[in-house]
Amino acid sequence: MSEPAQSNLNKQFANVASNYRGSDIDLHAVYRDMRQNSPVLEDNFMERLGVPSIAGLDANRPTFTLFKYDDVMTVMRDATHFTNGFIAEGLGAFFDGLILTAMDGEAHKNIRNLLQPIFMPETVNRWKETKIDRVIREEYIKPMVAAKSADLMDFALYFPIRVIYSLIGFPEDRPEEIEQYAAWALAILAGPQVDPEKAAAARGAAMEAAKALYEVVKVVVAERRAKGATGDDLISRLICAQYEGRSLDDHEIATFVRSLLPAASETTTRTFGTLMVLLLENPDVLERVRQDRSLVNKAIDESVRLEPVATFKVRQTSEDTVIRGVAIPKGAMVQCIVSSANRDEDAFEQADTFNIDRRAKPSFGFGFGPHMCIGQFVAKTEINCALNAILDLMPNIRLDPSKPAPEIVGAQLRGPHHVHVIWD
Ligand code: HEM
Repeated sequence: MSEPAQSNLNKQFANVASNYRGSDIDLHAVYRDMRQNSPVLEDNFMERLGVPSIAGLDANRPTFTLFKYDDVMTVMRDATHFTNGFIAEGLGAFFDGLILTAMDGEAHKNIRNLLQPIFMPETVNRWKETKIDRVIREEYIKPMVAAKSADLMDFALYFPIRVIYSLIGFPEDRPEEIEQYAAWALAILAGPQVDPEKAAAARGAAMEAAKALYEVVKVVVAERRAKGATGDDLISRLICAQYEGRSLDDHEIATFVRSLLPAASETTTRTFGTLMVLLLENPDVLERVRQDRSLVNKAIDESVRLEPVATFKVRQTSEDTVIRGVAIPKGAMVQCIVSSANRDEDAFEQADTFNIDRRAKPSFGFGFGPHMCIGQFVAKTEINCALNAILDLMPNIRLDPSKPAPEIVGAQLRGPHHVHVIWD
């Protein structure tokens, strides 16, 4: 990859969350206080932190914010009383079509059932063998080894988009396209902005990026269909997928695939970065994981609990309801603070501690209920391959003492911006 292209992408990456607070206050202390003193807040808590609403148009709706595990669980598991359709007004506008996260009820269920098998471990493990591990190890980690030092975020910025590019089934002989796709994905994510001066330009850029992505994806879908869609790639599988006699047309596949680039890239980038920070800050845990690779997935799950990248989720009530004694009217927005629920001391012992031996219990880093991340096995497999390759090929990897220590920052899309490491 060329230097200017890389620094451009780094800038765009920083820009996605540049307007969110989170590095200037101790968010976890704030959340602890809210759990104790105001577990159901009648206000838009994220707005106070400068996080733009992905729904865009909800300013006049009453908004409530939930901080406790049990309350967040109540909302996330019940997609009938707490709905997602409002998302189509905001983020959905950039997609115009099949965006799962903005669908409700039967429509969501039917499409989800059609798509789900493609993302189950059976398929993903095959992709691991044929694509994921090879791409990460051969194209990224091995070429880094001789340098004996790196900012792991430079690597993290690229591998998720490269992997999803490969899984989707884009042509492997045009690697220069990946840079462009990554930039489009970031432009879409940076679409919602709080600052009105930035908002119009960012929205326009996001729309343009979404359109450009759609056009390239649609061409590939049509080509694959014409050739019989016999491959193992995601687009071929989407063409062949069926549920109760229903299958997807080219427009639906193109809109869905295009929505995957932003859903699959930055989330994985930041989740990987956070995992590495937590392990590098706990060298004894890192050493245990190096010796016993069955602990890799436990470390991933625990880091997603402790520092989820997607720090909150919003739903809209379809009826009047009551949570923890607080009346919430029909049509209100309910903001679930995942970062707080995942550290609720009533749900997790020593909730602020990174403990990979914790008994398995659902947390909300990949969501929960009907909208739970459909790509979670893909993401975990990528991160698993990346960590294994690092442990195999970068002996004694440790934080670089000559560089600033990494920090996990941001009120939304949380993670580190730099992870400087050295190895022997
Ligand atoms: C570590 C990386 C990832 C994280 C932390 C993450 C997080 C999430 C979360 C929290 C949700 C739930 C949204 C909700 O409840 O409204 C979600 C949904 C979704 N994710 Fe992921 N995700 C990741 C990677 C991926 C990947 C790799 C893909 C695709 C290959 C993907 C595709 C999706 C899709 C399509 C949805 C919408 C599902 C639905 O509404 O039914 N994600 N993700």
